[in-house]
Amino acid sequence: MCGIVGYVGSREAVPVLMNGLKHLEYRGYDSAGIACLNGNRNFFIRKEKGKLSVLQNVLKSIPITSHIGIGHTRWATHGEPSQINAHPHLSHHGDIVVVHNGIIENYSELRQELKRHGYRFHSDTDTEVAAHLIEACYKGDLAQAIQKAVKRIRGFFAFVVMARKEPDRIVAVKRSNPLLVGVGKSENFIASDVSALLPYTDRVIYIDDDELVQIKAGEPPSIFDLKTGRVKKKPVSKIPWNIEQANKGGYPHFMLKEIFEQPEVISRTLKACVNLKKEINFEGLNGRAKTRLKKTRKIFFVSCGTAYHAGLCGRRMVEEYARIPTDAQVSSEFRYGDPVLSSEDVVIFISQSGETADTLAALREAKRKKAFTISIVNVVGSSIARESDAVIYTYAGPEIGVASTKAYVAQLLTLALFSFYLGRLRQQLSGLEVKQLVLEAWHIRAGIDAILDGTKSIKAVAKKLYRKNSFLYLGRGYNFPTALEGALKLKEITYAHAHGYAAGEMKHGPIALIDSSQPVVCLVPESKTYDKMLSNMEEIKARKGIIISIATKGDRLVRKMSQYVFPVPKCREIYSSILTVIPLQLFAYYAAVFNGRDVDQPRNLAKSVTVE
Ligand code: AGP
Ligand code: GLU
Repeated sequence: MCGIVGYVGSREAVPVLMNGLKHLEYRGYDSAGIACLNGNRNFFIRKEKGKLSVLQNVLKSIPITSHIGIGHTRWATHGEPSQINAHPHLSHHGDIVVVHNGIIENYSELRQELKRHGYRFHSDTDTEVAAHLIEACYKGDLAQAIQKAVKRIRGFFAFVVMARKEPDRIVAVKRSNPLLVGVGKSENFIASDVSALLPYTDRVIYIDDDELVQIKAGEPPSIFDLKTGRVKKKPVSKIPWNIEQANKGGYPHFMLKEIFEQPEVISRTLKACVNLKKEINFEGLNGRAKTRLKKTRKIFFVSCGTAYHAGLCGRRMVEEYARIPTDAQVSSEFRYGDPVLSSEDVVIFISQSGETADTLAALREAKRKKAFTISIVNVVGSSIARESDAVIYTYAGPEIGVASTKAYVAQLLTLALFSFYLGRLRQQLSGLEVKQLVLEAWHIRAGIDAILDGTKSIKAVAKKLYRKNSFLYLGRGYNFPTALEGALKLKEITYAHAHGYAAGEMKHGPIALIDSSQPVVCLVPESKTYDKMLSNMEEIKARKGIIISIATKGDRLVRKMSQYVFPVPKCREIYSSILTVIPLQLFAYYAAVFNGRDVDQPRNLAKSVTVE
């Protein structure tokens, strides 16, 4: 889950590493550290518990000149967040220094073995085992030592390593966890994610599993196959994002900036997927994908967290418009559930980062069972995108706030377009019907703009309710996933308890919560189940619950029944979840701000969950 960065070149390494870590902090932020080598072949290591700013302050007073170094921002798996457990980790004799993303599953037996050989451990981490093990294997060639050590390691990892006796290089290796090389002019970088590289280069090489990479200044990176030791030629790709997109741009938080970027995300998505004749096309779906989609007997959506909520919407969209039996599951349940899959099925993986460990493992499981795999991914070149049979990219741009907002909206619109595309492919929709649906999709942008214009009143309601520590969110149909998503946003960043529920299930349990102090968020835009939602609201009202409604603009009936209303413009039902989630994002955001929470980096979370 952590962020990793490495640099070798003629610049001062420390500012490059710190700048890289700043862009990676959203991946983990319980501690941070750097290691550099100076001209005397001595390691300078500094690490601190807490946010990156703590490390930054310490480094201000220590001038270090170095042109090679590695850095890490941690999300603890083994051992509490502390200075000792922070990375980089130094080997027993001080020859090797390591940063690591992932988990060494057999660390305990390796630790015992190394202890028997006299290695002393200072931290509680699994990572320190790797430092000692690489040192134990070291005979003057770091790449060879890593190659040997990795044979003993079970688990998943990206290791970035330096050796005191080879001060001109950084060597890295990966299995499952993300790693890429940034190629510069007579300088090279290594990172767990493109955001660290954006200030310096847009040319990257994606490292695959069981590849080892060595970077030096003034030489192209060399990549080897870990098993055979053979040199591999790999293409240099261009990152489609720029540094401005990854900055706050004057907003107090990334989350708020990303909420306000959503109208633009709608336009970008439509421009990319719809041609002038108003036909839908996905660049990543080739002839083979089309054939498999035409014939498929069942579709599965598999994803985690917010992306799972998108999957739930996707399921409904595909069933309504393409009439294909569809299921939506969370990745961790899917992969261990021995899913019944065959070559006649299509499994679609949804992920913003493209690196979520459970989703990646579920993808591998689906491929093992011969299903055709498609991914809907935001980060170009990410593991899930590269490993699936076909990929549809979303056009959210870089999402930095840990609470996902614009990536979700991009996923929803992409899924709606995908369901129409599929409907057309399977002759459930005529060309004319698709045109009409696409035409209406262009109105979503203005719809979101109108909701954002009402930010002040949403903020005012958040100010009234932010001290409440339990919220119930209810919705039906396309807005049941919105209820789940609204509740997830609130609990992630305010730490209040929030529960999303299918409104029809309220009577089967959650109604017991309702009294005059209980806020209930009701998603009640015009829909097939509008009347049913009204009945639920009557039931809440009869028990004196505090009703906050998300309703179609001008709906007087709902207004009368609710203490607070967030209006959304009228739209076709399939698009309603794209609009109704916006006020809930803003509500969660302001409730978190009033509670003094760390909106972009909420406690215990990390942007991308790369450990199982
Ligand atoms: C969203 O607000 C969350 N932080 C989280 O649930 C996230 O959506 C989930 O971890 C999936 O991530 P992915 O889309 O990168 O796979
Ligand atoms: N397992 C390692 C640790 O606990 C690495 C965690 C991470 O990826 O940040 O330190």
